[in-house]
Amino acid sequence: MLKDARILVTGGCGFIGSNFILHLLREYPGCRVVNLDKLTYASNPNNLRHVQDDARYRFVEGDICDAKLVDRLMADVDAVFNFAAETHVDRSLLEAGSFITTDVYGTYVLLEAARRYGNVRRFVQISTDEVYGDMPEGQSARETDALRPRSPYAASKAGGDMQCLAFFETYGLPAIITRAANNIGPRQHVEKVVPLFATSALRDQPLPLYGDGRQVRDWLYVEDHCRALDLIARAGEPGEVYNIGAGNYQENINVAEAILDLLEKPRSLIRFVTDRQGHDRRYSLDSSKLRTVGWSPRYDFHSALANTVAWYRENRWWWAPIYADALFQEYFERQYGERLAQGVPYDLRTST
Ligand code: NAD
Ligand code: DAU
Repeated sequence: MLKDARILVTGGCGFIGSNFILHLLREYPGCRVVNLDKLTYASNPNNLRHVQDDARYRFVEGDICDAKLVDRLMADVDAVFNFAAETHVDRSLLEAGSFITTDVYGTYVLLEAARRYGNVRRFVQISTDEVYGDMPEGQSARETDALRPRSPYAASKAGGDMQCLAFFETYGLPAIITRAANNIGPRQHVEKVVPLFATSALRDQPLPLYGDGRQVRDWLYVEDHCRALDLIARAGEPGEVYNIGAGNYQENINVAEAILDLLEKPRSLIRFVTDRQGHDRRYSLDSSKLRTVGWSPRYDFHSALANTVAWYRENRWWWAPIYADALFQEYFERQYGERLAQGVPYDLRTST
């Protein structure tokens, strides 16, 4: 299916999309990839500098909401992987409009163009475990569960998922939805918690841990995610949903401590700060459906985290400019200024 295919990847200058394009070009020498990316603040064109001269790769700067552009690109495409999205929960709490525009309407624009041309054999929608909402201890979400998104980001992603299923039911568009857990690995924007904590530690700055730090996430290494998407596109069933979880559960406080240990920095850098509004306590996916298709993760939590932290330690050139950027500084101040000023030091909280 992907061998010799013409593939449209959206959002390929972001974290997972860039890792996936590198995966495709490495695994499928005969494929051709078009990367449509708007180059928002979250992107980094450097992510794909190693392949910019590869004849099989073409970059198009543009918006998935631009129907004319999308229509032109879709005309000769065999497979679509839609990574393009606004992705940061905290930012969706500050401003949700851009999330609804890209994650819901943008997905619709892609689907509409794909159905007009009969050539698209797979439309893979990259979604998230957040659409299931908070998971009580002892429970894991199955693909057939009701969606209970609780943040504007999660609600927007759920809207995109619903459009995909509607286009499958109504027009027979061969759409597949994947819902993955928290990814880590090279080239993730420093706004997300693992890169934020790793780069803060490397700068000897405090690590802002929300609430009591006991929230649970499942840490999936990005390469494992890419392998899952590859398999699902080839062996998954149109109209189906596939959860992608590694089972690498950790509380946020353990993640912070492990990062500091890896970098040989003191735990006193941790600050307990005001919690995220509506913070989901726990995510957990039942991924048995995908395991039946033949996928299993290769990275456990410690190897995934060690690789990720090593990458940030060795690639300061990649992330240091983000901290120097005025817009990021403005966001950082709004998000963390007050919180850090009032933060509770690690030793005070953990010794009580
Ligand atoms: P990211 O924020 O790193 O990258 C998003 C990319 O999309 C950027 O390059 C950005 O420029 C581009 N983009 C944004 N709006 C666009 C638009 N309107 N048109 C074209 N391009 C646009 O995101 P990521 O973490 O790599 O996530 C990729 C996808 O995977 C998203 O759909 C996200 O919801 C999903 N996902 C992410 C995770 C995770 O842990 N990061 C987990 C599960 C699912
Ligand atoms: O679960 C999949 C989702 O994972 C993806 O769909 C999202 O695109 C991706 O951003 C991520 O969402 P999270 O909200 O889980 O990721 P984030 O890195 O923002 O936060 C992870 C956990 O760490 C969460 O419990 C909140 C906490 N946190 C986060 C930040 C940024 C902190 O304690 N301090 C922080 O400064």
